Amino acid sequence: MKTLLVTGGAGFIGSNLILKALADTPYRIVNLDKLTYSGNLESLREAENNPRYEFVRADVADSPAIRSIIDAVRPDGIMHLAAESHVDRSIDRADEFIETNVKGPFVMLEAARQYWKNLKAKEKAENFRFLHISTDEVFGDLADGGGKFDENTPYAPSSPYSASKAGSDHLVRAWHRTYGLPTLITNCSNNYGPRQFPEKLIPLTIINAIEGKKLPVYGQGAQIRDWLYVDDHADALLRVMDKGVPGETYTVGGNSEKRNIDVVMEICSRLDEKVPAESPYEELIEFVRDRPGHDARYAIDAGKIRRELGWTPKRTFADGIDKTIDWYLNNREWWENIRSGKYQGQRLGVNI
Ligand SMILES: NC(=O)c1ccc[n+]([C@@H]2O[C@H](COP(=O)([O-])OP(=O)(O)OC[C@H]3O[C@@H](n4cnc5c(N)ncnc54)[C@H](O)[C@@H]3O)[C@@H](O)[C@H]2O)c1
Repeated sequence: MKTLLVTGGAGFIGSNLILKALADTPYRIVNLDKLTYSGNLESLREAENNPRYEFVRADVADSPAIRSIIDAVRPDGIMHLAAESHVDRSIDRADEFIETNVKGPFVMLEAARQYWKNLKAKEKAENFRFLHISTDEVFGDLADGGGKFDENTPYAPSSPYSASKAGSDHLVRAWHRTYGLPTLITNCSNNYGPRQFPEKLIPLTIINAIEGKKLPVYGQGAQIRDWLYVDDHADALLRVMDKGVPGETYTVGGNSEKRNIDVVMEICSRLDEKVPAESPYEELIEFVRDRPGHDARYAIDAGKIRRELGWTPKRTFADGIDKTIDWYLNNREWWENIRSGKYQGQRLGVNI
C-alpha cells in the first residue's frame, strides 16, 4: 500500500485533501501538523477511526523531528501544504512566515532528499514524489482584464506571505535541478469550501452574517480573485501526485473570476433565501481601509494541467458557494468552537 505524508493536513486544504484521498484512493495517509491557530483536528473527525489514517504533531521547521518522522513513516510521496497562510497576519508580523514557509520547506526538502537518496529499491526511488503546494500570489497581480498567470509568468510577489511562498518555490526548483529530487509544484488560486478558518473572506462573511455582525470589505471590494472549490483543488493535487512530471510546475485555477464585493453580495442574497433576517444581509456590508500592497487581480490559465493531466474544475462558483454556505450553516459547532478558542492546545497525536 502506498503511503503519503501530508503536511498541514489539519488546515483547510489539507483536511479536505485527506478526506478525499481516504475516500478515493487506497493510500495510507499520515498527517503531519503543528496545530497552529488554523490547524484543527475536528476537521478530520470522519478520518479518526480509519485504519489508513494517522496523525503526528510536529513542526516542519524542526529538522531532527522531521528526519525521524520521515524515516519512521517511509512515505512513497510527500505533499507539503503546511504554511502560515494569511496575508494580513504576514503584514503584521512576518517572522513566523519566514520560519514556516521558507525554513520549513528547506527542512522538508533536505529530509526528503536524504531519505530518497537512501531508498534501496530502484523503483521506489524512481516513483518517489515531493509535491509542494504554492499559490498564484507569487506572481504578483494582473491589470483588470489583462491576461492570466501561467507556468511561465515571472515571479513578482507583493506581500511578506507571497514572498515567503515564492522563496519556497525557488528552493523546491533548486532541489530538483541540483540534486535531482523528484519535485513538483502547484500554484493555485484562492480556494473556498468547507473547513476554512474564519479569518478568510468567504467563511468570515458567512459567519459574520449569520451572527448579524458587520461584513468588512477592503477598499471598494474591486479586487478580483479566481475562486477554486477546495474539492476540485484536492482532485488536482492527487492527479499531479499520481501523473505529474517531476521538475514541472502546474497552475491550478477555478475559471471563476469574481470581484470581492460580488462574492460578498452573492453570499448575502443566498443567505436572504436560506435564513432570512429582519433586513437584507447586504446592509451589514462595511467598506474598510484597503490592505497595504493589495493585489488587484489574480487569474489562472489552467491549460497545462487540463491538457497534460486531464484536470478541469468540476464546480461552478454558483454551485460551490451554495455547498459552502450550507456547510457553515450545518456545522455551527465547528466554527463556534474556533471562535470561542476551544481548540487552543489540542490533544497530541501519536508519536511515530
Ligand atoms: N487557501 C488558499 O486559498 C490557498 C491558495 C493557494 C495556496 N495555498 C497554500 O495551500 C497550503 C494550505 O493552505 P490552507 O489554506 O489550507 O492553510 P491553513 O492556514 O488553513 O492551514 C495550514 C496548516 O498548516 C499547519 N502549520 C502551520 N505551520 C506549521 C508548521 N510550522 N509545522 C507544521 N504544520 C504547520 C497549521 O496547523 C494548519 O493546519 C499553504 O501552503 C498555502 O500557502 C492556499
